[in-house]
Amino acid sequence: MTIGIFLSLKSILRKIIIKTRYRHPGLLKRVISSCLFLPLILFIIIQYILMRNKNNFGNRKMVEYADILEAYQRIKTEINKTPVMTSRTLNAMVNAKVFLKCENFQRIGAFKMRGAFNAISQLTEEEKKRGVIAHSSGNHAQAVALAANLLGVKATIVMPSTSPKVKVNATRDTYGAEVVFCDPTIKARSETAQKLIEQHGYTLIHPYDNEDVIAGAGTAALELFDQVNGLQMVFAPVGGGGLLSGTSLFVKGYNKEIKVIGVEPKNVDDAYRSFISGKIEVNETTNSIADGLLTNLSELTFSIIKKNVDQIITVSEREILNAMRFAWERMKIIIEPSGACSLAGVMSKQIPVENKKIGVIITGGNVDLTDFFNLLENKISNF
Ligand SMILES: Cc1ncc(COP(=O)(O)O)c(C=O)c1O
Repeated sequence: MTIGIFLSLKSILRKIIIKTRYRHPGLLKRVISSCLFLPLILFIIIQYILMRNKNNFGNRKMVEYADILEAYQRIKTEINKTPVMTSRTLNAMVNAKVFLKCENFQRIGAFKMRGAFNAISQLTEEEKKRGVIAHSSGNHAQAVALAANLLGVKATIVMPSTSPKVKVNATRDTYGAEVVFCDPTIKARSETAQKLIEQHGYTLIHPYDNEDVIAGAGTAALELFDQVNGLQMVFAPVGGGGLLSGTSLFVKGYNKEIKVIGVEPKNVDDAYRSFISGKIEVNETTNSIADGLLTNLSELTFSIIKKNVDQIITVSEREILNAMRFAWERMKIIIEPSGACSLAGVMSKQIPVENKKIGVIITGGNVDLTDFFNLLENKISNF
């Protein structure tokens, strides 16, 4: 029975083919060749969809050069246009013209203010009403606290119970955020924040895994290129990679020929290793004085860095300390270890910079001066 059906179908098909050949010569060839093209077209469509997904991270949009320009319009009246500083001694040391973009003079003392304001200002009215949350003991906490305060949004900051008093006071008393303490582990921090989000519907402002934070961070480079003409290379520190992502997106959008170099402490060189291996690596230790650079990259920041950064180099703790001391002693600018990392990268001479114009993002200047002033207090109490 089945064989019978098969045979009659075969003969019907044969008849159709013979008739078609006779009535429409050439049609059959066209049908067959379009059948051959079909898989090729399907293959191209599938590749396109895969590529889009890769760039979009599901529903997440990719940050672009234009986002940084828009972010600057959004934040420029609320942030400091930070100065660019130079030193003849530094230029002579590396035989180049070096321009330091001093974000230590930014509000809250670090570039973080740019991203925090850009992100919070774009929340919906409903989200603003519910409030924002961040878990950080560093510059991001203060940035979220101040940006939220300026925008009339309630901010809650989860801080480890061991956080230095000066940082707790700044976040709570100066910038008006509610501080919630937790155990001093990264896990405890994110679990506490998650619980509060579930209870109150707060919006988490992530320190680097956030498109608007990245676009805001890129505005430091935008300002630098507005202030200095003809830069050929830019050095920036890398922790979670928000700053380096924003910087590299801006620089490559501005001029592809300009080189972007990320600088990381040797002791926490996850970004350096990720750049080489092509997958996100993590840090085994937290043994660095650059406390803002202990974090690992996210999928988002890694994808931007892979595409737009030319090289990542590492510097030793000694080199970071020397760069910091140089800035304090010779240039009279107070910079913190994380902020000194990019300068240490230039001073290490691993990258040939001779006769070039170099931009260096000095990301922050928040240093706990308690020990230093305690020494002086002791001294004056003996007079
Ligand atoms: C002063 C300073 N520099 C650099 C960084 C690193 O920024 P990112 O995590 O975006 O790489 C931080 C992060 O907290 C910081 O506070």
